Amino acid sequence: MKIVVGITGATGAPLAYKVLEQLNELKIETHLIMSQWAKTTIDLETNYKVEDFKALATTVYSYCDQAAAVSSGSFKADAMIIVPCSMKTLASIRCGLADNLISRTADVMLKERRELILAVRETPLNSIHLKNMLHLSNMGARICPPMPAFYNNPKTINDILTHNAVRILDQLHLSHPDAKRWKTK
Ligand SMILES: Cc1cc2nc3c(=O)[nH]c(=O)nc-3n(C[C@H](O)[C@H](O)[C@H](O)COP(=O)(O)O)c2cc1C
Repeated sequence: MKIVVGITGATGAPLAYKVLEQLNELKIETHLIMSQWAKTTIDLETNYKVEDFKALATTVYSYCDQAAAVSSGSFKADAMIIVPCSMKTLASIRCGLADNLISRTADVMLKERRELILAVRETPLNSIHLKNMLHLSNMGARICPPMPAFYNNPKTINDILTHNAVRILDQLHLSHPDAKRWKTK
């Protein structure tokens, strides 16, 4: 399985790391693209370097490289996860703008009818955000905002990140061993 991972500049760089880490542990081939603002949030929100994110991926592309392999529908990616997905990137995907490698690859996923998972992050949401999400959901994209769950009694931020990453990977039928699933007592 080949998965493209896009990281944008919404808050949530630690979640992006967790998703990449879990995909790496599951030995999934990953193709990573980070936006300019993703590099800023990585710096502001984590103790990792951009290089640490790159080290978890199989292949890394420049955000500006529209000639990269993943830019073409002939590249047989099975799915794309954008985590976190900013409202700006959400809007550009909805409009088919394709003006950088993240929005272009997302556009390819939609035209090829492949899985596109958007871990959209903003609060509160205005009507533009909500309309963009509904439009893309109606086109088949999966809208997976990183929302904490409390039914599994998280004790740490890492527990919350793990659960959110597990639920994103669940969308692709990938089951990470750290998943703590709901069980009635
Ligand atoms: C620390 C920080 C946190 C941000 N959080 C969000 C957010 O949660 N959601 C969002 O849509 N934009 C957020 N932004 C704004 C985006 O970074 C900005 O809209 C940027 O243009 C997104 O570009 P990109 O999608 O190409 O990464 C944040 C910016 C910074 C610096």
